[in-house]
Order: sequence, then C-alpha cells, then structure tokens
Amino acid sequence: MEKYYITTPIYYPSDKLHIGHTYCTVATDAIARYKRLHGFDVMFLTGTDEHGQKIESKANEAGVTPQEFVDKIVEGERGVKDLWKLMNISNDRFIRTTDDYHVASIQKIFKKMYEKGDIYKGAYKGKYCTPCESFWTESQLKDGCCPDCGRPVVDAEEEAYFFRLSKYADRIRDLLVNTDFLQPRSRVNEMVKNFIDPGLEDLCVSRTSFTWGVPVDFDPKHVVYVWVDALFNYVTALGFMNDKYDDFDKGWWPGTNIVGKEIVRFHSIIWPAMLMSMELPLPKNVFGHGWLLLDGGKMSKSKGNVVDPYILAEKFGVDALRFFLLRTFPFGSDGNFSNEALINTINVDLANDLGNLVSRTTAMVGKYFGGTLPAGCAAPVAPMDCDADLKAMAQKLRDAYEANMETYAPHTALAEVFKVIQRANKYIDETAPWALAKDMEANGARLAHVLYNLLEATRICAILLIPFMPESMDKLFAQIGAAADIQTWDSAAQWAKLPETVTVTKGENLFPRIDAEKALAELAEAEAAAKKALLPDVEIEPYAEEKVDFDTFCKSDFRAVKVKACEAVKKSAKLLKFTLDDGTGVDRQILSGIHAFYEPEELVGKTLVAIVNLPPRKMMGQESCGMLLSAVHTEKGEEKLNLIMVDDKIPAGAKLC
Ligand code: MSP
Repeated sequence: MEKYYITTPIYYPSDKLHIGHTYCTVATDAIARYKRLHGFDVMFLTGTDEHGQKIESKANEAGVTPQEFVDKIVEGERGVKDLWKLMNISNDRFIRTTDDYHVASIQKIFKKMYEKGDIYKGAYKGKYCTPCESFWTESQLKDGCCPDCGRPVVDAEEEAYFFRLSKYADRIRDLLVNTDFLQPRSRVNEMVKNFIDPGLEDLCVSRTSFTWGVPVDFDPKHVVYVWVDALFNYVTALGFMNDKYDDFDKGWWPGTNIVGKEIVRFHSIIWPAMLMSMELPLPKNVFGHGWLLLDGGKMSKSKGNVVDPYILAEKFGVDALRFFLLRTFPFGSDGNFSNEALINTINVDLANDLGNLVSRTTAMVGKYFGGTLPAGCAAPVAPMDCDADLKAMAQKLRDAYEANMETYAPHTALAEVFKVIQRANKYIDETAPWALAKDMEANGARLAHVLYNLLEATRICAILLIPFMPESMDKLFAQIGAAADIQTWDSAAQWAKLPETVTVTKGENLFPRIDAEKALAELAEAEAAAKKALLPDVEIEPYAEEKVDFDTFCKSDFRAVKVKACEAVKKSAKLLKFTLDDGTGVDRQILSGIHAFYEPEELVGKTLVAIVNLPPRKMMGQESCGMLLSAVHTEKGEEKLNLIMVDDKIPAGAKLC
C-alpha cells in the first residue's frame, strides 16, 4: 500500500481552540480519511506547540508552571485532545513539543546544523528594558516603550545563534517559483515578492531572555527558537533522531503539510531551508489555506470574537459542523463564518437535499414493497432519459470528486456530490413513484427499478461523503441496506452494486431541519454564557499609584456605626437611607447607593463602618452625613459590593484606626 503522510500545524495551547483551528484540523482530517478510503496507508499527525515566551508569560500570570499551564489546555477537560475527539479527528499520532523524545531530537538537530556551520553564534540586536531585564523586538514595543511596564527602552545586543537562511535563498526561490511545492499557486508570488526578493537575512534561532524552550545542550543559557522546535515536529514525530518511533526510516517522510496562510512563510521558506541544511527530503507540498473570519476580521481571543466549536457541535451535531466548514468555504481563500450560514447549509444541503432523498426513498421502499425490493429491479424497465442521466452522473462523480480532493478543494468535491443528490431528488419528481404505485400490477416493476436507481445514487454519494461525515454515513448505509463491501472507493465508481433484493430500514431522521430563529436565539445565549465563563472569576481594582501622606490619612475619622433603621429612598432605584447610632447619642443619617446589593431589612442591627467627617451633602433632597465603607470587586464581569461589617461586640462610635 502506498504511504501518505499528512499533518496539521501544531497548535499553541495559549488559549482554548476556536472554530478557525477546528476548520484547519477538520479539513486535514477529511483529506486523510479520503486518502484512506482511496486505499492509501495514511499517517495523520497533529499536536501542540508548547514552548516560547508567550506560554511562559501566560503561565506566570496564571500562577502555575508553564508545564502545568499547557497540560491543562492540551489534556484537560474540553482541551485540545478532547476537542479533536469530539470532532471525530482520525489522527494516528499526537505530538507535544514538550515530549521528551522531541526535545532530545531538537537538541541533536540544532547541534548538527551548528556543527555543519549553518548555525553560528552572533549578536541579536534589539530593544532592552533595563528595569524589566527584557529584550524586545521593534514590533513588540508599545508606543516605542516596553510592552510590560511602559518605560523607555534602549538599544542593546544579546548573544544569539543564527541560522544561515541567506545561504539557501536561491534554492528556496527556485523551489517556490519552479515547482508545485507551495500551493495554492497564488501564495507563491506573495512569498517571493515580500520575503525572498527583498533579501533573505539569517534567522535568529536562539533566545536567552526566557527559559521555557528546548535548551541548546552545548550552551544551555540559550533556548531554541520556538519555530525551529515546532517545524521539526513533522519529522521527530516519525522518529527522526529518536528511538520513540521508526517510521522515518520506514519511508513515511516526505509528507504534506497543511497550514494556515499566516504561517506559510515559515513553512515555505524557513522549513525547506532547514531541511536542506539537514540534507533531508523536502515536504511533498505545503498547502496554505485561508482564514475563517468573523464579521470580516480574524478571530482572536483578545478581540473577544471567537466562536466556540463545542457549542456548535453540541447544538447541531459534529457531522453537520464538519460538513458546513468544508462545503461552504473554498479551502484556499478566506471565508466569513456566521451562525446563519451554518443553519442555512444544514437546512438546505443536509435536511432538504440529502436527508429528504434518503427518507423519501426508504419510506417508499417501505410503503410500496414492505422494505425489500423485488428481484430483477436493477434491470431497466420502461427506461426514461432521466434514468440514464442519473446513472451517468453518479458513475462519473468519483472522478470529478477525486480531482478536487487531490487539489485540496473539498468544497468543490462536495459541490459535485450535491449536484448528484439534487439530480436524484429531481429524478423523484420526474418519475413520480406515487403515480406508478397507483397501479402496482402494471407499474410495480418500473417502480422497483426507480427506487433501486435512487438507492444506488444515494449509495455512491454516501461513499464520497464518508470523509466528511463518517458517523452519519454509517447510519445512512444501514438505512439503505448497503453492506461494508459496497461502501468502498472501487464501488463508488460502479453502478448496481446493491443487491436487487435489498432491504431498507427507515431509521432516525439523519439531519433534522433547524428552526433558525429559535436556534440563533439559543446560540446567542450560549455564546454569551461562554464568554462570561471566560471572564476572570474575581477582578480587583488596580492599586492607586499616588501615595497619601500619613497625616492626611489620619484626618479621616472612621467609626463603628449601628444600623437603627434602613429604608429605600422613594423614587430612587439605588439609594438606601440609614439611621445610625454613632455613639454620640444623636442619630446620624447616611444615604448610600447600594440598593442593588442589599434589601434594607437585612441590614437593621448590623455594625458597619462609616467615615464621619466628610462634609454633609444632599442626595435626592435628603442630607447624608458621611459614607459607609464597602469592599468592591468584579466577578465574572459583574460588579459586586459588600458592606464592611464588623463584630457586634464593637460599641457604636468606636474609632477605627
Ligand atoms: N504553533 C503554530 C504552528 C506551528 S506548525 C509547525 C501556530 N499555531 S496556532 O495555534 O496559532 O495556529 C494553528 C493553525 O490554526 C494555523 O494554521 C492557523 O492558520 C490556524 N488558524 C487559527 N485561526 C484561524 C482562523 N480563524 N481560520 C483558519 N485557520 C486559523 O501557528
């Protein structure tokens, strides 16, 4: 069996994955499944790219180690692995760049390029923030200052290792311009014009300003640049320079790298140059797919505009989501994601076209033939042009589909399949089985032939849909009575493979129609709840920068006060009026805008804290003499307030200091 190796990019586990990441992995999965269907021995790799400064900083912010941080996102509940399981991703291997075997391989690879002279020690020029002891590149600065503390930076140099990328410039140019290495072709010009022709500079491939990376073993204050570490995953996962696997030696490399458009530069310039340096074969090809956009812009967690694949898969089903992603957006270009488009595709293609075809056909076989077609039904009876047309279209479908799948155009492959499904639905109208059924004696044989043709066309389409909707197609085959041996690639180009006496089973509705209005409202609610869940549990006010001198502070007179009475101020939604015992023997009145947090009756009898030497002020026409102290914070985006209550043993009027 011919080997076929295909990879997705390995994901940064700095945040939860969104629908854009899911798109890339589902597309690669469909291609991998297509190749398996086609009879290839497939190895499909995905994984996570876990090193680098960003992960280190995020872990610090979260107060955990970088390893704990990535473990949670990769292995934890609803993490990367869970998502791929949910989406029915058929990867054969999952690499984490923190896996020991990968780390050891990267150290050997780095050393080999160093010993060869392709990696050399030099100085990395950048900007330095002295108080933070941090190196920054020009593009990382915020308004020309340190992005962490906002203070000015100075020019500085840091010792670093460099890869001789410039040495490979001509070979890379030739590779891109004169071969089909980089696809789609439209991406070549961009690489050549923007990066190669202006001159390829040597690439800085080590850092000393942080530690979360693969240490350079012969100079351990350096860690290997995260892209060098990440790109070689495609071969270390096969066992290159390690004993974990032996697939590299068994000829699995080279393979196909599917990547998003923003990382085409790394995959089509840096990656082949390093492979040339290592004297390894280059990937068969690199395909740069487009982005899923939201409201015309890239999804990003910082913009708060990410779409959660869990919500969509749970609501509409994994197969419907997989199908939508690949049917709707041309793989090589950008596409605008919307919940409306998703629901529309499910309703039109899956519920109306495919779902109806299956349910109408199986229902008619049930109604007119008790579920089993009679012998002889495959042979033409009173043939019409539409019989031949349907049959010809179905028989030609596999070739058209193959041509598109081979050129990474799953959306057009699916369009071809749906042309046949639509043709089959039209065939039902043209042959009018319900009219034939009126006289079974005269037309029974013709009716059986029509239904047989419909089942055959459905079977062929379903085979080609396996890579996109594997679970649903299993159910569909069960409904139309197609056994495993006629769900194969070969049988997708052959007509009349179903036995004539096929028995259908009317099963569950494979793709129920969605009430768009209701689903959109529910989605909006679920998305809002998910966004809220992402908010920090507790957020506190930033600390005041300005210092207050001790004498000024001491001027504030804080006292314990007891609530004698409390009532809502009429016509005010916020204000509560407190009558307080402040120990002086004369009641003190304070108004406080806290009705959203307390009901008046729950506060009577409590001992609170008030600042009592503020000048009186009028609120809603009533005088307020002082202010009650409370603690405020934000929880899941919602403001919270708690009055400061002290021990009831403290007498009214006691001074707080
Ligand atoms: N870690 C690198 C890849 C290293 S490969 C040796 C990386 N990771 S990533 O998590 O940021 O992105 C992984 C993939 O998801 C990329 O191919 C990227 O293009 C893809 N997508 C992220 N957002 C996307 C969309 N909104 N739409 C489509 N794909 C997108 O880059």
